[in-house]
Amino acid sequence: MGTDHGNLVEKMGIPESRALTFKRRMLLTQNRGEVRQRLRGALTGLIGPKQAGDLREGIAGVVSNLLDALPDGVVDLKHAFADLVPAGVYCHWVDAPLLHARFVSEMSETVLAIFRRDPSLTPRIVAAYDELFAYAADRIAARKQAMGDDFLSQLIRVQQVGVLSESELEDFAVMLIEASTDNTAASIAIIIDRLTAQPGVWAAIANDPTLAIPAVREAMRLWPRSISTSRTALEDTAIEDVAIPKGASIFASFGAAHRQPDIFENPHKFDLTRAERPPHMNFGGGAFACLGQFVATIEVEEAIAQLAACYPNLKVLNADRDYIPIFHRLKQLDVSLK
Ligand code: HEM
Repeated sequence: MGTDHGNLVEKMGIPESRALTFKRRMLLTQNRGEVRQRLRGALTGLIGPKQAGDLREGIAGVVSNLLDALPDGVVDLKHAFADLVPAGVYCHWVDAPLLHARFVSEMSETVLAIFRRDPSLTPRIVAAYDELFAYAADRIAARKQAMGDDFLSQLIRVQQVGVLSESELEDFAVMLIEASTDNTAASIAIIIDRLTAQPGVWAAIANDPTLAIPAVREAMRLWPRSISTSRTALEDTAIEDVAIPKGASIFASFGAAHRQPDIFENPHKFDLTRAERPPHMNFGGGAFACLGQFVATIEVEEAIAQLAACYPNLKVLNADRDYIPIFHRLKQLDVSLK
């Protein structure tokens, strides 16, 4: 099985553009081989499990600044908080002001709409990529003037030693926006909605922030943001007695895997004491597994732990839940904070 992203780009009819060049040569459309290995390697060294741990302090700072800025009373936490956590972390990584987070978040949501597989969205997606490439070029130029210890400066160093070309560096700066923000934002909103609905769980996390770790893990299992990931058959094959012709797209369902009773005992039960293994599959697996899974998990844990500690009595008043075949998301999450 190979990546299905090339099939998706073709189905969406992306015209010749910076977006198409990006899609053709970027990590997501590469199958096994030297290019995939080199591109994955460039990022693994910056956001692997150890490096992600080092990024926790910066992430916690972004979350805390966003909480300080929340107004009192009824708040739409999807827009005022969940969307801005990963976008704010991205701004922190590229040394941009937190004020840019709304732009980053909206652009990420627009370009990731490609997974809706609706070609009428293509012109908007292509235009958003143009804006993102202009933004990334500005950030790279600014960092090159004043290199520091930030994430983007580290990526620039990877490019300067010859692992990436100049335009691959821009590709990475854009790929990080699309890959890191929308999925994480949606996960945070879903998990706030679901954890506050479990009797006693929100108050328990408010009292003991370390419980955010098993709570996030269990919420990701029961209510995954991505319900499936896709692959293309690289040759004629079969799964059990179902024949799969070469070139077919296959959607593997995490949603179903997470509720398999022979893998997870009492699979429908939310259980804070459930063992860490077997792991949930929110981040896919194998050669194409999510490179940002350690960072993403830390972002969600920090968001939940700090939000519960600040607002132990938080109540969801209105949640506009949108379930489409691949993604779960909330369009709105109105809460009372106190
Ligand atoms: C909760 C948030 C996130 C979710 C649910 C998520 C989910 C996924 C999934 C399902 C895949 C495809 C895996 C497969 O097909 O096996 C993926 C790929 C990827 N993700 Fe994430 N992701 C999240 C956050 C992030 C973050 C924060 C980053 C970067 C900092 C990131 C970077 C990537 C990259 C680079 C790939 C492509 C990997 C490849 O093709 O080799 N993701 N993600």
